[in-house]
Amino acid sequence: MSRERVLHPQRGVAQAALLIAAAIGLCVVLGTLWLQSEPSAERYSEPSVEYGRQLIRDTARNMGPAHEDPTMRYTGTSMDCASCHLDTGTRPGTLSLLQAAQRYPRFSGRDGREGDLRDRINGCMTRSMNGRELDRESVQMRSMEMYIRQLNNQYAVMGETRQMPDEPPTFTEPDRAADVAAGRLVFEANCAVCHGSDGQGLLAAIDRSEGYLFPPLWGPDSFNNGAGMTRLLTAARFIKARMPLGKPDLTDDEAYDVAAYMNSHERPQRPNLEVDYPDLKNKPVDSPYPPYADEFPIEQHRLGPFQPIRDFYRGLE
Ligand code: HEC
Ligand code: HEC
Repeated sequence: MSRERVLHPQRGVAQAALLIAAAIGLCVVLGTLWLQSEPSAERYSEPSVEYGRQLIRDTARNMGPAHEDPTMRYTGTSMDCASCHLDTGTRPGTLSLLQAAQRYPRFSGRDGREGDLRDRINGCMTRSMNGRELDRESVQMRSMEMYIRQLNNQYAVMGETRQMPDEPPTFTEPDRAADVAAGRLVFEANCAVCHGSDGQGLLAAIDRSEGYLFPPLWGPDSFNNGAGMTRLLTAARFIKARMPLGKPDLTDDEAYDVAAYMNSHERPQRPNLEVDYPDLKNKPVDSPYPPYADEFPIEQHRLGPFQPIRDFYRGLE
């Protein structure tokens, strides 16, 4: 061990840096948990903002696949909505829910029709959370909607400084195909400490119903292949802005490659994805599953470069 240190001084430095990064991350996570810790899930019979907040923050505990009451098992993963909508959606910037309410109803290219906030929540329920739809009138659905509407009111009175995202400048897409092998190295150096070298995350307790301390990035308990996070550009934008948690410092190239590495793995499969985007011209260039209204290979839709695909569609207009 000591001989190795002498021979590879850089490795010692890299390991120390990783340990420090892990320590910072753990402090961030434990601090958040400590601030937010609460007794176990409570059932509400009337919709409320507070219940909505709990459902979005502690989704696994309230309606996860290991819930003691089988009728309350709505999500297919033990992740939380807040695994992606950080700080329960209250933080301005990438995947914030502060302004979501005012964006609906609106046209969804994926569904080929106009949808409201409840439809959008069910979109994340069935894709990002790999679960089943909530009844539109259920206490759970109405509570989450109330909470998201409340965030919108909160945002309106926040004042300009607090509305500003505290995150790195937005992601600029590299003009090349993403490099999965390079992404693996980025993952090992920056992500594995928390998400695990196998990407499977770390449960908060032995009991899955308590959810994750670090959510999985792929595998059977992650978001499914119809989720927005499986799009390379969506994932890279999120990763650049938010990860590593508490210290987002990746370059555009690193974020792009590590997103490709993450999405090169197996995850739950959603049936009937071919009916998404009834008008295929509305399909995002980085949508990773066919069919397409163009002749570019599927690999290019998954890994880029995307500009030639955009240029093709612009030519059709
Ligand atoms: C310090 C620990 C830590 C590190 C390092 C870290 N993450 Fe995360 N990551 C988290 C936590 C915790 C969450 C869930 C958000 C929360 O609970 O606030 C998360 C959420 C995510 C999510 C969304 C949820 C999911 O499971 O899909 C993605 C994607 C992600 N991280 C990717 C990465 C990538 C890529 C890296 C490396 C560049 C990385 N993370 C590094 C802790 C970390
Ligand atoms: C794996 C990550 C992930 C998880 C988990 C997740 N979402 Fe999302 N969510 C996304 C992405 C990606 C988008 C799309 C953002 C975009 O349109 O660019 C999104 C969009 C949304 C929107 C629309 C936001 C807007 O401003 O238009 C709402 C509302 C939403 N999610 C709610 C939820 C709820 C409620 C849950 C839990 C039941 C959840 N999400 C779980 C990734 C996630």
